Amino acid sequence: MSATTHAQWSSRMGFVLAATGSAVGLGNIWKFPYMVGQSGGAAFVLVYLLCIALIGVPILVSEWMIGRRGQKNPINTMAQLARQHGHTRNWALVGIVGVLAAFLILSFYSVIGGWALAYMRDAATGTFSGLDKGGIGAIFDGFLASPAELLTWHSAFMLLTVVIVAMGVSAGLERGSKVMMLALILMVMVGYGMTTGAFGQAVAYLFNPDWSKLDGSVLLAALGHAFFTLSLGMGIMMAYGSYLGEDVNLLRAARTVVIMDTTFALCAGLAIFPIVFANGLDPASGPGLVFVTLPLAFGNMGGGLVLGSLFFLLLTFAALTSSISLLEPVVELLEERTPMNRVTATVVAGVTIWALGIAALLSFNLWSEVKLAGLNIFDLLDYVTSKFMLPLAGLGAIVFAAWKLEQASVKHELRLGDTGFALWTVLARYVAPLGVLYVFWNNI
Ligand code: PFF
Repeated sequence: MSATTHAQWSSRMGFVLAATGSAVGLGNIWKFPYMVGQSGGAAFVLVYLLCIALIGVPILVSEWMIGRRGQKNPINTMAQLARQHGHTRNWALVGIVGVLAAFLILSFYSVIGGWALAYMRDAATGTFSGLDKGGIGAIFDGFLASPAELLTWHSAFMLLTVVIVAMGVSAGLERGSKVMMLALILMVMVGYGMTTGAFGQAVAYLFNPDWSKLDGSVLLAALGHAFFTLSLGMGIMMAYGSYLGEDVNLLRAARTVVIMDTTFALCAGLAIFPIVFANGLDPASGPGLVFVTLPLAFGNMGGGLVLGSLFFLLLTFAALTSSISLLEPVVELLEERTPMNRVTATVVAGVTIWALGIAALLSFNLWSEVKLAGLNIFDLLDYVTSKFMLPLAGLGAIVFAAWKLEQASVKHELRLGDTGFALWTVLARYVAPLGVLYVFWNNI
């Protein structure tokens, strides 16, 4: 008896850790702070938190629920469940859009994962020591201006991802511990922020909203980022759900994953913005924000060499646990649908994504003027996926779960009483889908 209980406990833990490993990544530490900066601060943060709670959580649970029933890759899962419930096979589109989005996201995610790798080397070799903001900025600008450097590190990151996925060991990776260590360093950096004299300003910037900054594009950015950061709308959480036993309480698991994910993002903000304000940096400077602020601190604080190297090492790990989770569904699909074996499928997917990543990294230099609708290739990949494909696929998942699945079994599965389930129904049937539609409509 005790052996069974233990086995169940450890699988439940394993699941929550794996889902957290996918959720916590560059999205929290690299993307969230710079999006806050570009969107003008607290109004974005509060809308983002609302989107996580009212839209993100129900969609996360819906994707797990669908995955647990289907037990296949996201496309086949959707097709099969739809057929079983007498609906059209077109529901498979939810899976198709998701896997396609995963594919596109990984191309630019790997470029930034490469930045983390490169900065690990720089931090370890003392490159940042004693530099002022001009010096740190020059290093970042020089890095971006060099296609060869960006290509080298993007390739290295992609290679790591491919090797891990090809070996099929991703499930066995110890994901939790490294993420926890990253949390520790972030805490230290929040502590450092308190010594800069600009901590109060950073807190106000993050939590005291200026609602006049809120417009349709901020809403869309907040919504899109809620999907990105929770790994929603890309078949990933659906795929994770397919490995789930009946014993796992989905609402409780979602609560843990979401709290962890949100804590990381907010801590990253609390670590970065004091440095921004103390040094007169521009909060809206864009994707380079974390790569300019934290090195400035590491270069000028006691123990910064060790702390900085460790930070970028752990950031790379966090990025890898997410990139692995992005590549898995693509590889699984190729394995199931083509004669390719796992290694071939991984290499084929990896090389294709890597090649697309080259177009993304050239956006920072040679191709910076290649634009569509005012966006360079990097921004376009991000825009189309986060602000369009993820919300659409997530919308499909929740509409299916809330309107097409047999609701008595959903109630049983979520272990809710009558009141709890009524609340769930309102959220899943109306609030979340209408929320997504409202944001879309606002932007047309
Ligand atoms: N959620 C990850 C992050 O915030 O870094 C990124 C990510 C991983 C996005 C996996 C999408 C995904 F499918």
